[in-house]
Amino acid sequence: MNKHKVVITGGLMSPALERLQEVCDVRKWGKTEPIPRDVLLEWASEAEGIIASNTIIVDEELLQHAPKLKVIAQAAVGYDNIEIEACTKYGIPFGNTPGVLVAATADLAFSLLLCSARRVHEGWDFVRNGSWGQDHKMPFGIDIAGKTLGIVGMGQIGAAVAQRARAFGMNVIYYNRNRRHDDESIGASYQPFNTLLEVADAIIVLTPLSKETRGSFGREQFQKMKSTAYFINVSRGPVVDTDALLEALQTGEIAYAALDVTDPEPLPEDHPLLKLSNILVTPHIGSATIETRIAMAELTVDNLLAGLADKPLPACVNSDRITRKNKGVF
Ligand code: GLV
Repeated sequence: MNKHKVVITGGLMSPALERLQEVCDVRKWGKTEPIPRDVLLEWASEAEGIIASNTIIVDEELLQHAPKLKVIAQAAVGYDNIEIEACTKYGIPFGNTPGVLVAATADLAFSLLLCSARRVHEGWDFVRNGSWGQDHKMPFGIDIAGKTLGIVGMGQIGAAVAQRARAFGMNVIYYNRNRRHDDESIGASYQPFNTLLEVADAIIVLTPLSKETRGSFGREQFQKMKSTAYFINVSRGPVVDTDALLEALQTGEIAYAALDVTDPEPLPEDHPLLKLSNILVTPHIGSATIETRIAMAELTVDNLLAGLADKPLPACVNSDRITRKNKGVF
C-alpha cells in the first residue's frame, strides 16, 4: 500500500518523528533557515499532510497548491502563522498542542519574573566578569511577595502562572477578553485592562497574537504603568510595540522588561533593546523542555495521523467549523 506523503517544514522531536516515518513517506526540511516559499509550494503539491513550523505562513495560496492535502498540524499552542479561516474553507483540519505545554510555559513565565526581580543574570555576569569582591555594587532587586501581579490573557497558562504567583505570596489580578467565572479557583480577580496597567507591580502577557491583540502594549499603555513596573512578555512579540517599549525602558516609564518573545524575532545582535541594562531576553523558550517538546511532538503526530485517517484530531482548532459541505468525510 502506498504510504501517505507528509511534509515537515522544521524540527520534530524523537521518538514521534520516527513513529511518523514508519508509516508515512516523510519529506523534511532540515536546514536552519526557513524553507523558501517556492520550495514549500512545490512540496505541498504532493502532500497529504503538513507538519508546519511557525516560520511558514499557511494561507489560501498554499492551500491552493495542495490539492491532496487532508490535514495540517503544528507543534505549538499559538497559530498566528496559520489562516484558520482558509483551512476551514478548504476543509482542512488544523491541529495544535494545547495542554501539554502549560506547566513548562508557566514555569518559564514565572522564572522571568523571579530572575528579573532578583537580578539573577546580572549577578552571574557580576561573578563572571570578576566584579565580585571588587569595589563594584550589584543593583538590588525587589521582593515579589506582597506585590500585585497582573496577568493579561487568562487561559490555561495564565491560570498556571496565577497558581505559582499565589504560592509566592503575590496578589494576582487578570484581564481577559472574556471574563472568567472561576476567579476564586484560579486565585486571581478580574480587572479592566486599564486598571490592571495602573495597579500591577508586574505584568505577564500571555495573549495569543490576533488582529485585536497586535500592538496592544504601546506608548499609551506603558505610560499608564507604574514607573516601578516589571513587564514580561511570553506570548508573541508583535503584541508589543517594540519602539514604545524601548522608549519606556530608556525614559524610566517602567522599571524593567523580560521578554521570551520579541518583534522582530530573533532580535538582531545590534538591536538597541539589547544595549539596555534593565532587560532580560530569552530566545522563545517557553515550552523548551525535553519532556514538553517530546509531548508536543507526540500530540502533533497524533493530530496528523488522525487527519490522514479521516478521524477527528485529538486537538483541533477548527473542528466545529469543518462540515460535511467543505470536507466530504469529516
Ligand atoms: C509557542 O510559542 C507556542 O505557541 O507553543
